Amino acid sequence: MCNGLLNPAQYREPQALADEHALIFARTWNFVGLLFEQEAGQHRGVKLGATSLIIQCDKQGRPRAFLNVCSHRHAQLCEQGVHRGPIRCPYHSWTYDREGIPAGIPQPQAFPEVIADKSAHRLKEFACETVGQFIFVRLSTDGPSLRDYLGPEYDFLLHASAGMNGLIDEFRQDVHANWKAVIENSLEGYHVPAVHNQTFMKVEGMERGHQAPVDTVQHPLHSSIDHPAAADWLVTFERKIAPKIGSWAWRFPHYTHHLIFPNLTVTSFLGYSFHIQRFEPSAVGITTVHSRTVSVGFTGQSPVGAKMVEQIYAESKSFTERVFAEDAAICRAVQQGLECAERPAVIGNGIEDRVLHFQRAYQRCMNPTSPPPPT
Ligand code: FES
Ligand SMILES: [Fe+2]
Repeated sequence: MCNGLLNPAQYREPQALADEHALIFARTWNFVGLLFEQEAGQHRGVKLGATSLIIQCDKQGRPRAFLNVCSHRHAQLCEQGVHRGPIRCPYHSWTYDREGIPAGIPQPQAFPEVIADKSAHRLKEFACETVGQFIFVRLSTDGPSLRDYLGPEYDFLLHASAGMNGLIDEFRQDVHANWKAVIENSLEGYHVPAVHNQTFMKVEGMERGHQAPVDTVQHPLHSSIDHPAAADWLVTFERKIAPKIGSWAWRFPHYTHHLIFPNLTVTSFLGYSFHIQRFEPSAVGITTVHSRTVSVGFTGQSPVGAKMVEQIYAESKSFTERVFAEDAAICRAVQQGLECAERPAVIGNGIEDRVLHFQRAYQRCMNPTSPPPPT
């Protein structure tokens, strides 16, 4: 057991969020969306920390990230979410091409300098890189490549992307708690019996007490856990279900949960779908969770198998929604406690290691020049 490394004030004071925007969200690589969602001829408004972005693919199909601010007189160009057609400013209707260069300007004679050198008035652009289907943006001009930043998670995201072919479910919902409290909740299974005794505790093949989960906390920022499926359940799955539903790109015999610091989690059971959650700090006490469940392609599937997969996906959608509601309710209670808490939390050995690991990663980013915290 040890004391938590963060102070309750860091979960409730607006200054803490302002510091996080500058020291964490502006300097790390942040997940902003999936490549297959990004159709040609559309653009997407995304909030990254305190910065509003537009993501769109250029003529080569490469995703690019632009500041969501018009070069004319600073109007925000679009709201969050997907928009069809080119970027068009709602104020005076300037339009921008796929490279973020002004393409259409009403009454152009009034802007001779812009017309003479449109590129000089392009939208501010940020570093944007992909791994498989995952698009990431870094706001700061300097920093590591995406591959270096992700370390071992690069290969995980690449493998996970292999069979991805569409969205089963997507929602955005506010949780009334600080983003760190919401992420910490996702990093431990200690709360499962109390909070999810009607949901997670009843998942077939995932009953507790079979094999211990394996934490991976070697990377300074990211962490993951693999929880093996029950061996006898897997044998039945192999015999009765697998021959019907066919095979898929990346199959593994466990439940896995990855945190890609600071605010992306990717989870999957066996690899036949992936649950991707982005935790956006909308205010110091509000986290907007953007949740996507992604399907993968199957080969060698029988018609009965196709129905089974449909059923599995429908169940996973309602399961995700119920688990989300349970976590949202407990996170709200945690935030209410944090509003008047005076001491650091206590963190359990072995069962809350990833919470501590997250707090160390957080401190490392918030105090980049200080030595690592004692273990
Ligand atoms: S502010 Fe965008 S066109 Fe005028
Ligand atoms: Fe939970």
